[in-house]
Amino acid sequence: MRKMLGITVCIISLCLFYCLNRKPQNPSALCKKSLDLAVEQYFTLDKTFPDSLFPRTLHPDGSLRTCRSDWWVSGFFPGSLWLLYEYSGNDSLKERALVRTAAVEKEKLNASDHDIGFKIGCSFGNGLRIAQVPGYTETMLTAARTLATRFNPRVGCIQSWGPNQERGWEFPVIVDNMMNLELLFRATSLTGDSAFYHIAVSHADRTLKNHYRPDGSCWHVLSYDPETGRVEKRNTAQGFSDESAWARGQSWGLYGFVMCYRETKAERYLSHAVKIADFLLNHPNLPKDGIPYWDYDAPDIPGTYRDTSAGAIMASALLELGDYVDTNRSLFYRDSAVRMLRSLSGDAFRSALNENGNFLLKHGVGSLPGQSEVDVPLTYGDYYYIEAMLRFLGTGQS
Ligand code: GLY
Repeated sequence: MRKMLGITVCIISLCLFYCLNRKPQNPSALCKKSLDLAVEQYFTLDKTFPDSLFPRTLHPDGSLRTCRSDWWVSGFFPGSLWLLYEYSGNDSLKERALVRTAAVEKEKLNASDHDIGFKIGCSFGNGLRIAQVPGYTETMLTAARTLATRFNPRVGCIQSWGPNQERGWEFPVIVDNMMNLELLFRATSLTGDSAFYHIAVSHADRTLKNHYRPDGSCWHVLSYDPETGRVEKRNTAQGFSDESAWARGQSWGLYGFVMCYRETKAERYLSHAVKIADFLLNHPNLPKDGIPYWDYDAPDIPGTYRDTSAGAIMASALLELGDYVDTNRSLFYRDSAVRMLRSLSGDAFRSALNENGNFLLKHGVGSLPGQSEVDVPLTYGDYYYIEAMLRFLGTGQS
């Protein structure tokens, strides 16, 4: 009996010693392991649908839900292939990225909403940056011209969506639109034509002034009067309420202002990005693992969904922001991003090979109020997760 007790105490002590002394995996090794796995997963995913379509998410029965090139997410899969090619140098990935990118090309003329920046910037933009593919410059410039047609000088913004009578929106601008400004900055650096630059800066300035609350959070949708430029409404489409902080919107805004600082070096964008980052990282409803709930003000926290896409976008933005601030802040943002990447790379959020339809991340939320894409993989969550890991490793942009 005594002997048994002794053995049991020994085993428990050994387990405790192991747990207390176990070092977390080095973040570089963690990112490399996850990216190596991502290469395998994306080769497999790529084989499961035709070249004319794009992966969006999974249906409730686990089958792949695809979309056509006109849906806002079409650029993310080709973009992810480019990023994985950049990481691995694997020529077969480049071949597939070329094919998948070609399937987005017609969107360069699609002026029906602001998403042309996501579609063309993530696909052609990465292909141009990483592989200097002939012809991609022209596609980027055509797309930038198309996006610029949605700019209204009286409002000072690009119109994100068409008017919506039901919601009373004449000229809706959503915070997500900050992401599409990168296409305009690229067009200026490719041509030297500052017209694109001025549109981007005007849009960013109006967004900074009108879309943000004193605490550093933002509304999702603003509607302007297209004649006077006055703000008529401040609402949400995908958040919990008009006054809440919809998580992915906060991440888009953070990423967008960091990118605007990179492109302009205007101090007002940097200080605004810092304000957003501090609002998010100090938020009492941000879980310890750093992966936000779908809305920071969701009433049923902690019993509600996380949004891994919001986490991946935020991690990627924080890593770039860390390059532009003083040492203490830089450490804070980098450590926060690493914590988020660790969480995203753990079993709770990261899928294994041949699970989760070979998407990388689980538990994303497209639109909870719309009951669309709730607690599922999302192609854009994967894209920004890959980008964040490349940024951490010092490969890729910024
Ligand atoms: N509009 C893109 C999104 O759902 O975040």
